[in-house]
Amino acid sequence: MVKAAITAVQGYIPPDILSNSDLEKMVNTTDEWISTRTGIKERHILKGEGLGTSDMAVYAVKGLLEKRGIEPDEIDLLICATVTPDHLFPATANIICDKIGAKNAWGYDINAACSGFLYALVTGAQFVESGRSKKVVVVGADKMSSIIDYTDRSTCILFGDGAGAVLLESTSENTGIMDSILKSDGQGRHYLYQMAGGSVRPASHESVDNKEHFVFQDGQPVFKAAVIGMADVSAEIMEKNNLKSEDIAWLVPHQANLRIIDATARRIGITNEKVMINIQRYGNTTAGTIPLCLWDWENQLKKGDNLILAAFGGGFTWGAIYVKWAYTAK
Ligand code: UT7
Repeated sequence: MVKAAITAVQGYIPPDILSNSDLEKMVNTTDEWISTRTGIKERHILKGEGLGTSDMAVYAVKGLLEKRGIEPDEIDLLICATVTPDHLFPATANIICDKIGAKNAWGYDINAACSGFLYALVTGAQFVESGRSKKVVVVGADKMSSIIDYTDRSTCILFGDGAGAVLLESTSENTGIMDSILKSDGQGRHYLYQMAGGSVRPASHESVDNKEHFVFQDGQPVFKAAVIGMADVSAEIMEKNNLKSEDIAWLVPHQANLRIIDATARRIGITNEKVMINIQRYGNTTAGTIPLCLWDWENQLKKGDNLILAAFGGGFTWGAIYVKWAYTAK
């Protein structure tokens, strides 16, 4: 059976840094609290009038195509996972395609919060496996700073901006997206969400005054559900594929909280040196975290390496993907 393989990866992180010591001057917090509770030291913020999620994605996708040596008009489909689209409509995928000149591509956005990249990767892989598409770009990008209240210490310390992208192509080798388990439970929707701006509560003076356009999170229930959800689904996909911890080269977890990552690694018996962790530098970039990890670690990945990608996020949404890495970077 034809498989969909990741054949290139690229990321983009905006240059401006918001450090824990910067945040100490903005809200009642300390570097010590943030570091020990979350593992985050700094995050990057996209600055500049009129710049949005698509602008970061464009850097990532352009770099991806250059790396692989292909032209924008060779892309058949571009899927963008984001909770911070440039506009509610049209889809950010369409805007990215226009900005990079991907004239033969169609595209759409996926909204699955921190699990968005996993949902998009699985969806993109189906188009390659079915033969419907040859070259699919999957982007995870979020300008979280656009929906963060920088007077709310419980959320403003967590999030950063960034984008990552992968190219999916078919392979007849036994590599690529091997298996996936994706889940969702709408009962969790009130613990992590943006209250206003949708059809239930359109923007009004009142919604703006009440700060309802910012991320709301009740951290502890999300934490508890994330620790269980991400660890369970990672263990489940390993069992389903007869994988033991020694078979896994890398755990690639969503970067929301170092304690959630550690719990997942412990549950599946993986030691720290086999876990991709860059939360200290980027914070939680929502849909961006997993492709940004793959980008940062690309040079250490070898063809045939078994990777477990895992995430948990708003919705609730969660899942894990088993990837057999398809190339060794030159
Ligand atoms: O990516 C999508 C999914 N999201 C997640 O996975 C995030 C899950 N949740 C978490 O990671 C954690 O719940 C947080 C990092 C958000 C919070 O950590 P926590 O250990 O759950 O802290 P808490 O909310 O229980 O707060 C403990 C104390 C509180 O003070 P009191 O009530 O004990 O006096 C907070 O007010 O820490 C206080 N606090 C802070 N103190 C200093 C909350 N935020 C801060 C802060 N600096 N920034």
